[in-house]
Amino acid sequence: MSIFKDDILKGRTVLITGGAGDIGSEISTIFSAHGANVAITSRKEERINAAAEDIRGKTGGKVFAVACDVRDYDAVENAVAKTADEFGGIDILINGAAGNFPSPIAALSPNGFRTVIDIDLQGTFNMTKACFPHLSAAGEKHGNANVLNITATLHYTGMPFQAHVNAAKAGIDAFTRTCANEWGPLGIRSNGVAPGPIGDTEGMRRLAPNEEMAEQSQKAVPLRRWGTKREIADTCLFLVSDASQYTTGAILVVDGGSWLYSPGIGGFTVE
Ligand code: HXC
Ligand code: NAP
Repeated sequence: MSIFKDDILKGRTVLITGGAGDIGSEISTIFSAHGANVAITSRKEERINAAAEDIRGKTGGKVFAVACDVRDYDAVENAVAKTADEFGGIDILINGAAGNFPSPIAALSPNGFRTVIDIDLQGTFNMTKACFPHLSAAGEKHGNANVLNITATLHYTGMPFQAHVNAAKAGIDAFTRTCANEWGPLGIRSNGVAPGPIGDTEGMRRLAPNEEMAEQSQKAVPLRRWGTKREIADTCLFLVSDASQYTTGAILVVDGGSWLYSPGIGGFTVE
């Protein structure tokens, strides 16, 4: 699919955690194609530098890469400060960094559980708190600053082997709503995007690692297919744009009807 170029985010700066990941790099590319200054962050410097180069090549936009582990608050503050120095502020924060591996509760170590909570939930808090001064300045300036959290649907039904992820994403949803309440008066909206199974991603390689599981999972989706990274990126674009100005505290499910029809991403049973 071609990148539709437009200027709806011209002059806006977005900081994306996990911005070089599978879904994250698609969001970064689409936001850059729509005129935003894009800052991408994750732990692996080489990966974010390569992604930044690739996106610049595709869109001709300004893309800045800064490494940090979202679990480390000092590193998070440093990445936020460097982004604000580079672009003069931050209008939009997208929290997409996450960790995942399947494990039954009985085999999950306390550190395994904590690790996912720390990356997904604590990491989302760390980034959001560190960006607050910039987001509130942007809210005061133009009234449409945004926090957008990438969540999931697995916790709606308690998907097996995902206790750590379910707990983290449920916490993220609660945090998203609290931000909406506290920061709405400051011109900062706070929403979530809840992807279902998305093809060609690390998430699905981990959760459906073979052909049989992939097929089973796709059959359990009412739209009979996995979603695309572009479909998630386009939803993110909508939720930070002027087209959704009165939407805050929402978690927008983009899953082909998956969670309504079967728990988790379909086809997984506890044995
Ligand atoms: C059981 C495991 C495990 C596994 C790690 N652990 N992998 N336990 N089964 N497969 C345990 C370790 O034994 C350790 O506990 C603890 O978790 C921390 O492991 P580390 O390797 O030291 O952690 P770290 O280096 O910080 O790496 C974090 C990670 C890793 C989450 C484990 O996989 C990672 O970096 N992931 C990033 C990429 C990723 O996960 N992408 C998918 C996101 S998609 P002990 O007790 O031994 O010390 C996603 C999709 C959701 O979230 C929904 C899809 C539909
Ligand atoms: P991915 O490619 O593995 O993306 C995750 C990103 O998080 C990576 O770029 C990783 O980069 C970064 N990250 C991990 N730990 C980090 C840490 N401690 N600090 C900073 N960055 C860290 O996975 P994906 O499948 O695209 O998933 C993206 C988002 O969508 C996640 O929030 C996921 O939960 C959500 N989601 C995905 C699906 C799906 O079908 N794929 C479904 C539902 C929800 P580094 O390794 O360089 O740090």
